[in-house]
Amino acid sequence: MAEKVYIFDTTLRDGEQVPGCKLNTKEKLELALKLESLGVDILEAGFPISSPGDFESVEQIAKAITNATVCGLSRAVQKDIEVAAQALKYAKRPRIHTGIGTSDFHIKSKFNATREEILERAVQAVKWARNFTDDVEFYAEDAGRTNNEYLARVIEAVIAAGATVVNIPDTTGYCLPHQYGEKIAFLKNNVSNIDKAIISCHCHNDLGLATANSISGVINGARQIECTVNGLGERAGNTSLEEVVMVIKQHKDLGYYTNIQSQLLNPMSHDVSDIMRMPVQPNKAIVGANAFSHSSGIHQDGFLKDAQTYEIINPEEVGADGSKIVLTARSGRSALAHRLQKLGYQYNRNDIDVLYQSFLQVADRKKEVEEEDLHQLASTYKAAP
Ligand code: KIV
Ligand code: ZN
Repeated sequence: MAEKVYIFDTTLRDGEQVPGCKLNTKEKLELALKLESLGVDILEAGFPISSPGDFESVEQIAKAITNATVCGLSRAVQKDIEVAAQALKYAKRPRIHTGIGTSDFHIKSKFNATREEILERAVQAVKWARNFTDDVEFYAEDAGRTNNEYLARVIEAVIAAGATVVNIPDTTGYCLPHQYGEKIAFLKNNVSNIDKAIISCHCHNDLGLATANSISGVINGARQIECTVNGLGERAGNTSLEEVVMVIKQHKDLGYYTNIQSQLLNPMSHDVSDIMRMPVQPNKAIVGANAFSHSSGIHQDGFLKDAQTYEIINPEEVGADGSKIVLTARSGRSALAHRLQKLGYQYNRNDIDVLYQSFLQVADRKKEVEEEDLHQLASTYKAAP
């Protein structure tokens, strides 16, 4: 039996921290409703104490969302937790996400405290949050660089205090996939009450490893992934929602599933990109403009014989426009014939051989040969004696 991996979307919180991506309440609400339709299980709506505007956004989202759990972030500070609880008052399923830095970098440089003091603050925060909701998630910020034995003590203590989800963030995107996986396995094996909580992966992408680390976390026992649409987030971003969802879907052999409606992934990506005014890189997996484009002759020929030769995902499955055969100076005869045929021109092999030479001349001049160039080629060829 496949096991469910919960998708915790933080586009509206960690994603929105990106310079230039800030959203107003109306924009956040619009995206929240779309994220709910996409099928996210938990929606982190914001950080209520951070500004009156964000408080209002979280409150409006809490009122409007019916199926997903709505989550608000707080530091391990009583006032933060109370404000988060207040903003979540109308949520059908409210979750408070509270926590504190546990690596020595955070303990010494940020808090000028000791490990024992931080452990105590973590426990008090979770206990306080439990006064407002039964669903409390604890984050151990910079867990990626936290000593495993100490991390295990903190996690055991916060679960005993009432945390139902324990988030193990690789805040700086430092871990290698096997290291992050080993960290999750260490907690599974060394925290006596770990089965009372869900372990969550929250990975940043500073080394481009956020997706790999999250999947490694799941393989080693985590059952929630925190992610953002288009991988938006602080610095190099967070784990990309579309990537982890499709890894899990493509690799059924792993034995997991998510609740995400994958055919909505591309429309969702466009909406987030438009509203957040943040373009998606063309070579982005799953949702980039080139994710289903084929431009070199060898690939085009193989793809035209059987799409699966060069595509592991059917574009319809992720709501993309379809596969594209792009014509460049690296394209071959079969791609040229295919594109001409789509425009209504039927040529035999000899015609294509001749046309191909003219095509290459155009292609060497331009980055991409477009429809009007093909019409031009065809009309010149017909006009020839
Ligand atoms: O990256 C991080 O550690 C975070 C926490 C606040 C969950 O975003
Ligand atoms: Zn983060």
